[in-house]
Amino acid sequence: MKFHDTEHHPFGNTTMTPKHMIPKLTFLAIMVILTLAITPLWYPFCSYHSSSLLKMKHKYKNHIHDDDDNDALAQNLPSTYVEKCDIFTGEWVPNPKAPYYTNNTCWAIHEHQNCMKYGRPDSEFIKWRWKPSDCELPIFNPFQFLEIVKGKSMAFVGDSVGRNQMQSMICLLSRVEWPIDVSYTSDEYFKRWKYPSYNFTMATFWTPHLVRTKEADPNGPSNTGLFNLYLDEYDEKWTTQVQEFDYIILDGGHWFYRPMVFYERKKVVGCHFCLLENVPDLTMFYGYRRAFRTAFKAINSLEDFKGTVFLRTFAPSHFENGIWNQGGNCLRTKPFRSNETRLDGTNLELYMIQLEEFRKAETEGRKKGLKFKLIDTTQAMLLRPDGHPSRYGHWPNENVTLYNDCVHWCLPGPIDTWSDFLLQMLKMEGMRSAIS
Ligand SMILES: *[C@@H]1O[C@H](CO)[C@@H](O)[C@H](O)[C@H]1NC(C)=O
Ligand SMILES: *[C@@H]1O[C@H](CO)[C@@H](O)[C@H](O)[C@H]1NC(C)=O
Ligand SMILES: *[C@@H]1O[C@H](CO)[C@@H](O)[C@H](O)[C@H]1NC(C)=O
Ligand SMILES: *[C@@H]1O[C@H](CO)[C@@H](O)[C@H](O)[C@H]1NC(C)=O
Repeated sequence: MKFHDTEHHPFGNTTMTPKHMIPKLTFLAIMVILTLAITPLWYPFCSYHSSSLLKMKHKYKNHIHDDDDNDALAQNLPSTYVEKCDIFTGEWVPNPKAPYYTNNTCWAIHEHQNCMKYGRPDSEFIKWRWKPSDCELPIFNPFQFLEIVKGKSMAFVGDSVGRNQMQSMICLLSRVEWPIDVSYTSDEYFKRWKYPSYNFTMATFWTPHLVRTKEADPNGPSNTGLFNLYLDEYDEKWTTQVQEFDYIILDGGHWFYRPMVFYERKKVVGCHFCLLENVPDLTMFYGYRRAFRTAFKAINSLEDFKGTVFLRTFAPSHFENGIWNQGGNCLRTKPFRSNETRLDGTNLELYMIQLEEFRKAETEGRKKGLKFKLIDTTQAMLLRPDGHPSRYGHWPNENVTLYNDCVHWCLPGPIDTWSDFLLQMLKMEGMRSAIS
């Protein structure tokens, strides 16, 4: 498949937390006060669910079961506990039960993420699960997921990391059912998969810059292509297609490292590393912010769209000892603990831009009754330098652009956790609408 060649980076066991030992009512009272006091501080990390938070609390008080069974706790958790828990802050902990599929059981693994097949020698990187600091995140249950999305449809709009996520999900769902290909075109960038027994459809829409683009020069100043980005124009290849979907999962990031020329109102306004005379360098961040703004505006302008918009936040790459096309590589075999690294520099900036544009879009969308949610994967993925294909996404003699791939994620691997997040969020949403 073509997209990898053109793709360059710039680029269980449920332990009770001490809180549960405090008598439940006291705990509730404390949490209500704490939540009121610190909700503004959580922003932007936790407030994706804050709107219904207070309403939930009254309704839930009487429904808390004194259920101390650990497994039941994990499954029934979407009570008050999960409502208050930020599932995106935590640590990776060992999970001997993983993986839930292999290169032999799942055909949907993209060649360039098929690390087992290409001989990655270590497999410890597969055996972790995400443990939020204040609660449990259940491992993805494909039966539950398909029950929830029965009769619905989900669009992955963005770049190849979004496709990576969808393929992980196909593998995880394969314990229940394989999808059939119902694509409208033979273009591998625009695939549709349908789960016949559940009438559930997933689709990918290729739009690595989210807005209308044109490749102005396949080489450009750094041999990675030079793209014209029309920052105020919709990329109609997806904006005209997504309104029928119940869920849109939006992502983007890695392509913004490459040289770009920015257009607004059909005129050049600046660029990122284009090295053109008389064109000011406005930085990648300028383009990134406006691309997201335009993408959200496109969604908020859809007349018939009634669905939920998820922003899957930027997943950092992990090139060390060089950048992507200058010998950088990712050779670690263990996750970081959260105190061993932190989000900074470009990663932090891209992440903050996403959150800011997301908040504005959410405010706009809410006026029309649209729901916006953050799949806030950035922190969890920052901690997984060990999860990338590196040189095990192809045969050693193969000529591929991203020779050491420290951008995408091996399957099986840490990206499987994104399905854990998504299912948990859908369950919480279900609880909320069931009681409102
Ligand atoms: C899966 O990977 C193993 C090596 O770990 C390899 O021997 C096998 O051929 C691969 N299977 C497929 C279907 O690629
Ligand atoms: C399948 O789901 C779609 C919406 O995604 C709906 O329009 C259609 O009527 C459903 N078909 C059946 C047979 O339920
Ligand atoms: C990080 O925390 C762990 C345990 O919480 C501790 O053992 C380790 O020394 C800490 N590492 C650093 C770099 O602070
Ligand atoms: C690898 O592919 C690129 C373009 O596809 C080509 O320019 C280059 O010469 C190739 N390198 C080798 C070693 O074959």
